[in-house]
Amino acid sequence: MGKFQARAVGKGDYDGIRKQIVEVLEQPGYDDGSAGPVLVRLAWHASGTFSLVEHNGGSNGAGMRFGKERDDPANAGLVHAIEFIMPIQAANPWITHADLWTLAGVTALEAMKGPKVPWRPGRTDYDDESHADDHRGNIGDRLPDGALGADHLRHVFGRMGYSDQEIVALSGAHNLGRCHADRSGFDGPWVVNPTRFSNQYFKLLSTRKWTPRKWDGPFQYETIVAGERLMMLPTDMALMEDPEFKKWVLIYAKDQKKFFEDFALAFGKLIELGVDRDDSGFSRLVNKAAREGKPLDKVGGGCPFASAIKQGKTELDKNPRESKL
Ligand code: HEM
Repeated sequence: MGKFQARAVGKGDYDGIRKQIVEVLEQPGYDDGSAGPVLVRLAWHASGTFSLVEHNGGSNGAGMRFGKERDDPANAGLVHAIEFIMPIQAANPWITHADLWTLAGVTALEAMKGPKVPWRPGRTDYDDESHADDHRGNIGDRLPDGALGADHLRHVFGRMGYSDQEIVALSGAHNLGRCHADRSGFDGPWVVNPTRFSNQYFKLLSTRKWTPRKWDGPFQYETIVAGERLMMLPTDMALMEDPEFKKWVLIYAKDQKKFFEDFALAFGKLIELGVDRDDSGFSRLVNKAAREGKPLDKVGGGCPFASAIKQGKTELDKNPRESKL
């Protein structure tokens, strides 16, 4: 840990919490010197358990504090992310873990020069393990497996209500951080500067020659850039092998602004999935999609985040009931 000292701020002072998250990011002895990438992954894995079909999972509950979800091999290493920000929650018990984890993800993303992602509080924490288990569905089946291909990506992200375009946009998060042999088994970063968000991942994916790595670990691809070994997972390569996915890889490789806008929308949706804080804002759209059994992008009304993102807002309208859903 660095020199960070958590402080109590007033109830509801989310800017005060954001400031402390930014202070936590600098971690000289850890990975590439930043807690940012693993915090983005924490927000994603907390949310990516959502099922539109069973209508459970999602970032509500902070279930990763409990047995099954904590021990899911897909979540290996996320304990570091939780520990980095735990002191902030301890000093400010008014904020739920579920809110803090998602807020940390969007704050870290922005601090690493990524887009602003609208965030709203209101997630609750499960009281105990039994409650968490009831609401998480088939833990172990929900998060994607990097060793698989395009069909698997459509299966996993389709369950959350995502389109092909959104799957590609979200995958661009692999511009951050690295794989760890002692966590997922895979090894190495995707890009040369893995603590700065950009569209580098798409550029490398579409322009470099990627070859299977000869090593003792799981099957993965590699290329050498400026003397550094970079990697791609089979799921990353699937984005170039599938023509529909590839179309978006090429667009995002050329147009970073478009990538940032689409990523902000898709990530904003992700952290709202399954958040039943009330029947307003995005929850209303998610609930409507669940009732109709349709992917989110096929539900009438569009995404309420769209205009907020275009205006670079990070907080949604104070009264979301008035937003035009
Ligand atoms: C498309 C399917 C995906 C697969 C198969 C996948 C798989 C993986 C794997 C195997 C790792 C390495 C974990 C480790 O060894 O520490 C990883 C890291 C990471 N993933 Fe993904 N991921 C996917 C999608 C996403 C999405 C949607 C996001 C966020 C929007 C994301 C964000 C990250 C980040 C930031 C890291 C780096 C974490 C660190 O540096 O500790 N991933 N992912």
